[in-house]
Formats: sequence, C-alpha cells, structure tokens
Amino acid sequence: MKKIFVTGGAGYVGSHCVKALSQAGYEPVVFDNFSTGHRDFVRWGTAIVGDVRNAEALARAIEKTQPVAVMHFAALSLVGQSVEQPDLYKDVNCGGTRNLLDAMAAQNVKALVFSSTAAIYGEPNADLISEDTEKKPGNPYGETKLACEEMIRASEFDRNIRSVCLRYFNAAGADPDEEIGEHHLPETHLIPIILDAALGRRENIQIFGNDYPTADGTAVRDYVHVSDLANAHVAALDHLLKGGDTLALNLGSGQGASVLDVIDAARRLTSSEIQTTDSPRRPGDPPRLVANPEAAREKLSWQTMRSDIDTIVADAWAWHRKRFTPEITSEE
Ligand code: UFG
Repeated sequence: MKKIFVTGGAGYVGSHCVKALSQAGYEPVVFDNFSTGHRDFVRWGTAIVGDVRNAEALARAIEKTQPVAVMHFAALSLVGQSVEQPDLYKDVNCGGTRNLLDAMAAQNVKALVFSSTAAIYGEPNADLISEDTEKKPGNPYGETKLACEEMIRASEFDRNIRSVCLRYFNAAGADPDEEIGEHHLPETHLIPIILDAALGRRENIQIFGNDYPTADGTAVRDYVHVSDLANAHVAALDHLLKGGDTLALNLGSGQGASVLDVIDAARRLTSSEIQTTDSPRRPGDPPRLVANPEAAREKLSWQTMRSDIDTIVADAWAWHRKRFTPEITSEE
C-alpha cells in the first residue's frame, strides 16, 4: 500500500483527511505533537509523536516511513494568537514547512499537499474570491501561510517537489459517521460555540458585530464541510501521483452564510432556543469571505456533497452531542 506521511493528522481537518486516505486505499502515517490534535482521532493508520520544529526528528520519521507523498497540516491557526505571538507562528508554520521540505528532498519525496487558508487574501472587496484575487493577509497567521505557499512553490524549481496548496474557507461540520469532529481548546469557532449553547455548555453566543455591510448586518462566511475538504485532499494527491502539475486552489462551497443564518439553522436542527447577545466586531474579522470554487471543480473534478449549511450543522450537531453529552447511568 502507498504510504502517505501526514503532519498534523490528529487535528480537525487532518484527521478527516486521514480517514479519507485510508478509505481510498492509502496507508496514512500521522506525525503529530498532539499539542492541539487528539490521540483518539488517530484511528486509521499509525502515529509518530513529533514536532515539525525538530528537523532531525522529522527527517528520521520520513526516512523511516518512505512515503510516496506528504500532506502537511501541522500548524498553528488562531488569528488572535498569531497577533500576540508572531514569532511562534513563524517558528511553527514557516520553520516547520522548511524542515519538511528539507526532509522530503533528502528522501526524494516529490509530492506535497499543503493545508492553506483563505486568510491569505485578507479583506478582499471581491464578491467571490478567486485564486488570483490580491493576497494581503491582515495578520501573522495569514502572512505565515502565504510565506509557506511561496516556499513550497519555489521548491519545484530547486528540488522538483510538485505541490497542491488548498486554501480552505471556513472548515466546518463533522464526519457523518460521527467518529471524529471539531474540538479545539480553547474553542473560538462559530459552529461549535453555537452547539455548546444548544447543549447548555455555555449560556449564550456572542454575535461579533451586527453593523457589517451585509444583508442582515452580521459577517458572511463560506462554510465548507470537512468531509468535502478531505475528498479534495485525496483528489489533489491522486492528481500529483498521476504526474499532475503544481496548483493552488480555493476550497469553498461558493455560498455565503451569515452568523444569523448559521444560528437559525442550528435553532431549527437542534430544537433549542440558543440565546444570543450582541457584541462589538472581533478585530480583524472581514465582513465577507466567499470562494469562487470553479478552479477546484475544473482541475480536480471536486464537487461539494455536504456543504449546504443545514447538512454541516446537522453533522456537527450529531458528533458534538455524542462527544459532549455526559453519559448518565442509573443505579436502579
Ligand atoms: N463569530 C461570532 N461569535 C463567536 C464566534 C464567531 O459572531 O462566538 C463570528 C465571527 O466574528 C465570524 C464568523 O462567526 O464572522 C466565523 O468565525 P470563526 O471564528 O468560526 O471563523 P473565522 O472566519 O474567523 O476563521 C476561519 C478560520 C481561520 C481562517 C479564516 C479565514 O478559523 O483559520 O476562517 O479563512 F483564517
């Protein structure tokens, strides 16, 4: 079986991709330091505990694995934290990617799928964001991911490494089999926070800004189901292993949903009231980020199957309820 080396394979998007890889007949080998990933998310394939900042450990792991390709998810991804600790983001995201490219070159591994982000675009004016929309990241997180993309693209020239950089919009939802899902500590993402309110794990949800220039005044995002993202990664890998060329692609549904749209969907699907409070805008939040996903459709024949907001929230809810509802047993 073809081995795929997956850094960050115990994290949210990484673990869903590992499951999809295994279902597609590949043998994933996870490399993760479990700083934000979960040990119980490694269910398909083996894991090596290690940190991408440790060049020697990473090189040894790749030498031992002898993969045909690499998927690189290991990174820090909180915008607010990146503003407070920019050097940490450079170290983990840029330093880690550099170590990875060195280790791949040393072992003659020539194909890389990279976990990138819409944060590289910053606050674009475009209604739909295409791959050639101007890139102006507004924070160190986006800056480091853009720098990684450039480093990766440059590796084609001196090291012959072909790559697909996948720029996710808002990854959301959970594995439809309810085996894995979204769980960050601390949680800052909209959907798990709403579901926590539905479960009574928090009192209410703060709506960050109700005066954006959008139809209902709340910020609009392109939520894309994590299982659809996982399928795109497998398609990108197949593309590279067939000798396909280097690409950078947006992954989104092409549809925008406002914060209020998501709350409405959650109220309907959970039959819970979900209390809200109005709060000031969160610094750095753009009013609207929606992808033009045409290029991914064309180059990878990628179609979203579960990325309508109702299916996303329903899948997230099924997993969230299973993970966070305490088991109640009776002595009687
Ligand atoms: N929001 C609230 N209340 C909350 C949490 C979020 O109103 O308690 C709002 C945010 O202000 C934003 C929207 O819900 O308008 C979505 O917020 P998330 O934190 O879920 O996601 P972001 O759009 O901020 O961030 C995501 C990824 C980032 C990536 C960014 C740009 O998590 O890694 O998309 O693509 F950088």
